[in-house]
Amino acid sequence: MCGIIGIASSKKDRTLTDVLVSSLARLEYRGYDSVGVASLDEGGIDVRKAKGKVVEVVKRKKINEMTGYLFLGHTRWATHGAPNDQNAHPHIDCTGKIAVVHNGTLTNYKELREELESLGHKFRSDTDTEVIPHLVEEFVKRGMDSFSAFKAAVSSLKGSYAILMIMEGERRIFFARLDNPLVIGLGEDNKNFVASEYAPFLPFTSTVVTIQDGEVGFVTPSSVYIEKDGKVVDVNDRIHKLNFSVISASKGGYSHFMLKEIHESPLAVKETISTMLSDEAVVEASRIISNANRVFVVAAGTSYHAALFFTRYLNLSSLTAIPVIASEYSSYKAKSGDVVLALSQSGETLDVKMAIKKFRNDGASIISITNVIESTISRESDVKLYMRAGPELGVAATKTFVSQVASLMILKSRVLNEDTSYLAKAPQILEDAVEETEGKMKRWSTLIDFPSVYYLSKGIGVPLAMEGALKIKEVAYVHAEAYPAGESKHGPIALVSEGFPVIFVNPGLDELKVNMEEMKSRGAKIFSISTVNTNLTDNEVIVKSERDLEPFALSPPLQLLAFYVSVNKGIDPDRPRNLAKTVTVE
Ligand code: F6R
Repeated sequence: MCGIIGIASSKKDRTLTDVLVSSLARLEYRGYDSVGVASLDEGGIDVRKAKGKVVEVVKRKKINEMTGYLFLGHTRWATHGAPNDQNAHPHIDCTGKIAVVHNGTLTNYKELREELESLGHKFRSDTDTEVIPHLVEEFVKRGMDSFSAFKAAVSSLKGSYAILMIMEGERRIFFARLDNPLVIGLGEDNKNFVASEYAPFLPFTSTVVTIQDGEVGFVTPSSVYIEKDGKVVDVNDRIHKLNFSVISASKGGYSHFMLKEIHESPLAVKETISTMLSDEAVVEASRIISNANRVFVVAAGTSYHAALFFTRYLNLSSLTAIPVIASEYSSYKAKSGDVVLALSQSGETLDVKMAIKKFRNDGASIISITNVIESTISRESDVKLYMRAGPELGVAATKTFVSQVASLMILKSRVLNEDTSYLAKAPQILEDAVEETEGKMKRWSTLIDFPSVYYLSKGIGVPLAMEGALKIKEVAYVHAEAYPAGESKHGPIALVSEGFPVIFVNPGLDELKVNMEEMKSRGAKIFSISTVNTNLTDNEVIVKSERDLEPFALSPPLQLLAFYVSVNKGIDPDRPRNLAKTVTVE
């Protein structure tokens, strides 16, 4: 939800805006309501911003022509105030000498705004963010130096934030973080970055410094300063090198990130498997899970569908596992001896963070699997596990979903003392499934011509059916529902009329063949994505798999179908309306 970036450079170099614009493009998936940039050079602060996408706003506002030593950039997912030009970030104080970008929500902004207005401050937007530059202005007016004024402003705020600020007369970017992600990239050539995540600056540096909750500081072109509760943090302890081999954050010849990322799935799964198989933390996590009273697997959206695999595997053994939709955490009570397994590709989803907090207070210990080293969720966990899918820039989770499934298979095999060699074939199965089903999914996409579609399956296929339905909803705006096929007779079948599309996921089982016949006899248009031939429909795609590796064979066609229906409808699957990649609000 909202992407922010700051670049500090010692040289006023024309190519800096190119770096900024390409970084903004990689941040755009976090919010595409508006775009804005502030630059600072000898002439002062220049702010250019507007509603619209990065390419449009850059062109319209001639952002490429901006010059400066310091830059702030923002892509907005609106929370407070409509998505329009005036609410676009950066926001400035009354004098125009302070500019701020913010990701998060401030819960006390109304009180702060009233107080500032009573002191004569003039506001230009309806956002919560705008109180920040005015607060800093006010503290400077009262005689504080810039950093003290920034810290005083930050400590007046309630809510969640990742904030970047520039100020006339200062060659540094001030930052603060609470409950929203912020990381620093140490560039070469006296150029440093600070951003919501690694992806925007990955092409320029992979040496990073993590910032933790409650910390404030500043970045200059050649240094980083961090403090917490008035104490200086040793930055050297925080520096690490990212080691993504799926590092590319560009479309690399594909039309969309979503398509590129589906094609990257085999590599993402391969990296995940090889890293996790040698990770001691996986052994520790499996020991804790084996001895757990109950395991709550907490996640949202696609990650929740991955959670359903794990709970199914564990429940088929003698262990007790409970899948929890993160936002519904208050319906559950954990106790000492229970374990929470938190799944979140971003590692920043607010509902998951809140669930972890609650379950920890109940007495549970926390294990997490994320795709982002030192993400907030990882840091709040007793045992941190990482998949290695590399950056995922399409809004829809694709390669991270199959990587989550791979991580969970490793974990369950460790818990159940199973041999893990069966997993070696997973990347090849994925690769074959992508290659062999893409053409057919392109053709099928023209046949999904109904406003609604059902996805039906049984057992291990049900979470996949749920994931297929979620994908087509989010990127192609098709109303889709997934059910265990047996359950479809208990209500949903009433909607089925001539031509209603019903997609069966892995219907090799005899019971599912019966369900297919039932749907067919009511006029449904039947599709089958299967590891065996059913001979019950012409619309059938067969994927090769091995026992226990079916999710890797069946996921790509489901993702590709959603992708091509989206593209056929003229939708941008990388930027579906109303969605943000990382949901950091309740
Ligand atoms: C769907 C999608 C979302 C996320 C959900 C959780 O394609 O991307 O449903 O899966 O917002 O996100 P993470 O895994 O980052 O916690």
